[in-house]
Amino acid sequence: MKIASSEFVKSAFSREHWVNGGLPEVAFLGRSNVGKSSLINSLLHRKGLARTSNTPGRTQSINFFLINSVFHFVDLPGYGYARVSKVMKQDWGKMAEEYLSQRDELTLSIQLVDARHEPTPLDRQLNEWLVFNDKRHFVVATKSDKLSNNELAKRIRDMKAEFGKSEIVAYSATTGRGRDDLLDKIRSAVEKS
Ligand code: GTP
Ligand code: MG
Repeated sequence: MKIASSEFVKSAFSREHWVNGGLPEVAFLGRSNVGKSSLINSLLHRKGLARTSNTPGRTQSINFFLINSVFHFVDLPGYGYARVSKVMKQDWGKMAEEYLSQRDELTLSIQLVDARHEPTPLDRQLNEWLVFNDKRHFVVATKSDKLSNNELAKRIRDMKAEFGKSEIVAYSATTGRGRDDLLDKIRSAVEKS
């Protein structure tokens, strides 16, 4: 798929601000700092479109981007960042859960997991939820450039064992590894929606 155009539409802090119009949506999910915003920027070849940061918990709203005027990318807040207050954690969880469980436009969920580490309990929980609720999805192993080929192959094997019902794609926002594959999968999901 060629990205002909991409633009930021809006940040939503509650559901009345979700975009209207009924276009299909592709959502990016994963723990704080896993690389969601970087992945969006690298897919779109737009460096600063989605805000990235070394400070975990940067994306605190649901951010909508219009792609090729036909579908939206949705950058969801990250989960599992220990240093925010309990109340904020609850808000984030609620926002993401409300979106995931109630949004009819949601066509594809892309779950990001750090290629370097064991999945966290919240990674497991999210994957189980996607599988149980029969959501079209796959798992992306991010930051694959930080591993040797051997290490990466081992981590992908472990992830296949862990997330047996999900397809897994190795990705790097730095080198572009996995980009063509991911864009293909997104196109196919949007076409089927
Ligand atoms: P929140 O918005 O806080 O939930 O984080 P996020 O998931 O959007 O992560 P973000 O894209 O902001 O990336 C976090 C950090 O990881 C930044 O310092 C990025 O530069 C770095 N990073 C993201 N993807 C990659 C990658 O593929 N390779 C490498 N080496 N670093 C990456
Ligand atoms: Mg982000």
